[in-house]
This record gives sequence, structure tokens and C-alpha cells, in this order.
Amino acid sequence: MSSSSSYIFHFCFLFIISTCLAEINFRPKTLFLAVKKDPSTLQYITEIHQRTPLVPLKLALHLGSENLWVDCETGFKSSTYKPARCGSRQCNLARSTACGDCRNENNSRPGCNNDPCYNIVSNPAMNTFYSGGKIAEDVLTIQSINGSYPGPVVTVPKFIFNCSPSYLTQNLGKDVKGMIGFGQQSPVSFATQLASAFRFSRQFAICLSPSTDRNGIIFIGHSPYVFALGFDASRDLIYTPIITYPNFFITRRASPEYYIQVSSITINEKKFAIKQNIALIG
Ligand SMILES: *[C@@H]1O[C@H](CO)[C@@H](O)[C@H](O)[C@H]1NC(C)=O
Ligand SMILES: *[C@@H]1O[C@H](CO)[C@@H](O)[C@H](O)[C@H]1NC(C)=O
Repeated sequence: MSSSSSYIFHFCFLFIISTCLAEINFRPKTLFLAVKKDPSTLQYITEIHQRTPLVPLKLALHLGSENLWVDCETGFKSSTYKPARCGSRQCNLARSTACGDCRNENNSRPGCNNDPCYNIVSNPAMNTFYSGGKIAEDVLTIQSINGSYPGPVVTVPKFIFNCSPSYLTQNLGKDVKGMIGFGQQSPVSFATQLASAFRFSRQFAICLSPSTDRNGIIFIGHSPYVFALGFDASRDLIYTPIITYPNFFITRRASPEYYIQVSSITINEKKFAIKQNIALIG
């Protein structure tokens, strides 16, 4: 047996064992998402599973966005979908920007309740935002990882997200149904909700591939962040404070974008002139 086929065997074996463990309240320390660079838009795309029955959902990565949003107008079917009511814990947690009713809109499918709450959803690829993203919750699943071994798929029964109309998915890659936000300062951004669901520390690591042929990865939760040949990238990280700016859309709220202080940029040992003390989005 060649070494590569024995690795595959090993992988499957572990996977089967882990699936059994999932029955007995498995609590993961680290989760992961594979990330692909879309050849037509050059956006980074990942896939989660949502709803009942579960469907795979392609979402564009948005580092500086507060929430996860999906197109609920076209083809949304789920027996576990639940819209949040105004004043509820979900609306408060998502820090909804408005309450209303859905009589005059078509984007609030599936279902319509009398007092939904809304949030702003933005699509930077369209250079637009929409203030009527209805807040809802549904089942979401994601795969865990332990060192270099993929572990069981775990379930968040009530993941809070935003429902958008279909037109908001324009300029996203083929079959991409929304965006997945990893913004800071937001209780409903992706890493934050998973960290509270599984009670691990609110941290994540992103490694993006420059090529459209090779996947990148996002680790959510505890290190190690193991790559090929057992290399743990968390041992090589350099730390710098994150700077917080006011929110562009909403007054008296911090921006979900990540900024760091930059004093100089050096590429191939050549120093580039920049104005002193500018802050860049990280
Ligand atoms: C990870 O694997 C180690 C050793 O194989 C085991 O002791 C530990 O419980 C596992 N952790 C999780 C969260 O599965
Ligand atoms: C909602 O959609 C229906 C059918 O698709 C259409 O007839 C109706 O005019 C739409 N209403 C609004 C307010 O857009």
C-alpha cells in the first residue's frame, strides 16, 4: 500500500469513529472551513450546511462584516427556520437596527411574522447595503478538527443570521448565496457565535491561497492550526493590537472591520514610503 492510500484509509477510519462520538455530547475545541478562491470574481468562497433538511450553502468570506446573511427569497426551505421577534433575545443579540412588519415586502420569505426585526446587510461586491435584512435563526453545521485530523460535524441548533432578498447576491461567484461575516465587536459574527455555542475562546486564523487550484483554510477556536507535514502555524504568529474605529453605518457602535497600526511596509527587503501612522484594514 502506498503511503498516500494508507493516509486516506486512516482519514476515513478516524472519520467513522468520530461520527459515533458525535452522539455523546462531543464538544469541539477547533472547527474549520475550507476556502476556495473563485476564478471569476477572485472572491474567497466557503461552504457551510444550514437548515432542516441540511443544504450546502456557498458563501463569500467577508472579514469585516457583523453577520452571516443568505438569500431567503429563492429556494429557502427549512422546517427549523424561525424568524426573530422584535424585542427578543435574538434581536437584541444581533443588535437589530429596526423593527417592522413584512406586509409591504417580498424579501421576508420564508414565512412572515408581524413584528420581525431587521439588520443591515452589506455586499461590498455590489458596493451596496440593505437595511431590511430580517433576523432569523436556523440549524447550522460545521466540521471540527483535532490537530491534523478532521473530527465530527457539529451542530449549532439556533444560529442567528440575516435573510436578504435575492438581488443582493449579485456580483458574488456562481451559486454563492450570501456572505459569512467574521467582524470584530459583533455578538453574531461567525466566530463569535461558534465560540459561545461551544464555549471556546473567540479566535480564528485564516490562511488564504493565492491560487484558484489550492484551498485555503479558516480555523475557528483553539490552536494548533496544523498544516501540511504537521506544521503548526500558531507557533509562528506575530501579535499586534487591533484598533477600533467608529461604525460607518451606525453611530455609537464600533466598526466590525479590523485595523492595525502600520509604520512601514517592506517587500523583498525594499522599504516602501508611506505616510506615518496610517491604519490599514487587516
Ligand atoms: C484530540 O485528540 C486527542 C488525542 O488523540 C484526545 O486526547 C483529545 O480528547 C481530542 N480532543 C478533541 C476535542 O476531540
Ligand atoms: C411580491 O411578489 C408577488 C409574486 O411574486 C408579486 O405579485 C407582488 O407584487 C410582490 N409584492 C411586492 C410588494 O413587491
